[in-house]
Amino acid sequence: MGLVIFYNTAFSTSEDITDVKSTFLINAGKELFFSKELSYDSQVACSSCHIPEKGFQDGYERALIRGKVLSRNTLSILNVNRYLNYFWDGRAVSLEKQIEGPLFQKIEIGSSKEIINKLVFSNTLLFNAFNLSKAENTQAFVISALKAYCIDVSTKTTRYNQFLDGNISFTNQELSGMELFFGKANCSNCHSLPNFTDGKFHKVNKYRRKIILQSPGNSTNVSDLKLGYDYGRGNVENGRDALFAFRTPSLFNVSITSPYMHDGSHRTLDEVIDYYNRGGDIKTGPLYRLGLTNKEKKQIISFLLTLSDSNYIKSQ
Ligand code: HEC
Ligand code: HEC
Repeated sequence: MGLVIFYNTAFSTSEDITDVKSTFLINAGKELFFSKELSYDSQVACSSCHIPEKGFQDGYERALIRGKVLSRNTLSILNVNRYLNYFWDGRAVSLEKQIEGPLFQKIEIGSSKEIINKLVFSNTLLFNAFNLSKAENTQAFVISALKAYCIDVSTKTTRYNQFLDGNISFTNQELSGMELFFGKANCSNCHSLPNFTDGKFHKVNKYRRKIILQSPGNSTNVSDLKLGYDYGRGNVENGRDALFAFRTPSLFNVSITSPYMHDGSHRTLDEVIDYYNRGGDIKTGPLYRLGLTNKEKKQIISFLLTLSDSNYIKSQ
């Protein structure tokens, strides 16, 4: 096991609002993020799926909790400052709305007003932070504290950013990879600057397989789980274009967030590049054959590796 350094609070992002940057709120958010007492059965915390050592995801193809496999691959929270809508299908338009999902759904944390009150009033750190905050009730406080923590841990340091700032130079391999990414390989058409995502939805991923779908809401009844397709954006919006389309993920931290895609169907970056190189598997999709040589594929991967948070890359 190598060395992993976690919380780097020396940097801050300019778009944060003052309250979100307050240290007391971030500390409360951290306490809550790791607290299993938030859940109805004291078994599950946000950190059960968003594991710091695994780049704030879980390493599973699809999330696994209380012995059940959920519908989708766990997104890392290291990129939350880079999106305007949240989840693989963009169904939450604010981070607050996003956090409400896992917090109150029985299949994830399954918290409630009563559980939250009990926790906040019995924990000095949380109680003091609640009093300092402008939140009108404990639920609103918990959501804004979790939001503050998620934004605080977002990635700020990468080789790519250091390169942009003129502090380091790229190797020839990384430079060629960057040129391919923005040129011949057409990646930047969707993974566009500055965040390597256009925030839009595309039909890119592999074959479609039926999976066990979770019933939304508060049911934990196994008989409510049924087999079906994940329609992605099609669950949120009408029209053919939305069916099976998923949000373009930011490519920051790709070296630490495998397996890839909304269903974790690609295990390695080599697999992903091969997939794009053959023009994908969907005949009517937006991808086409790229004609990349093996050398060029390696160059693209070298460039992709510069996008990962240096605080999370394990040494040795
Ligand atoms: C059971 C595992 C699990 C738990 C527990 C969990 N999450 Fe998640 N989280 C996921 C999965 C899976 C997704 C992607 C779901 C989707 O797209 O439908 C996700 C998505 C997210 C996102 C969206 C990121 C993006 O790029 O859009 C954020 C933020 C997040 N979770 C924060 C939290 C917080 C805060 C908690 C605790 C209140 C939490 N999660 C608890 C599995 C989990
Ligand atoms: C037509 C738009 C489009 C193009 C072009 C494109 N991507 Fe993607 N990319 C997406 C979408 C959408 C997803 C998520 C698909 C899904 O989960 O169903 C994705 C997923 C990925 C992932 C998985 C990330 C994760 O965290 O799971 C990687 C890596 C990736 N793309 C790299 C690339 C590279 C490298 C190229 C160029 C060779 C490229 N993409 C070209 C839209 C695109």
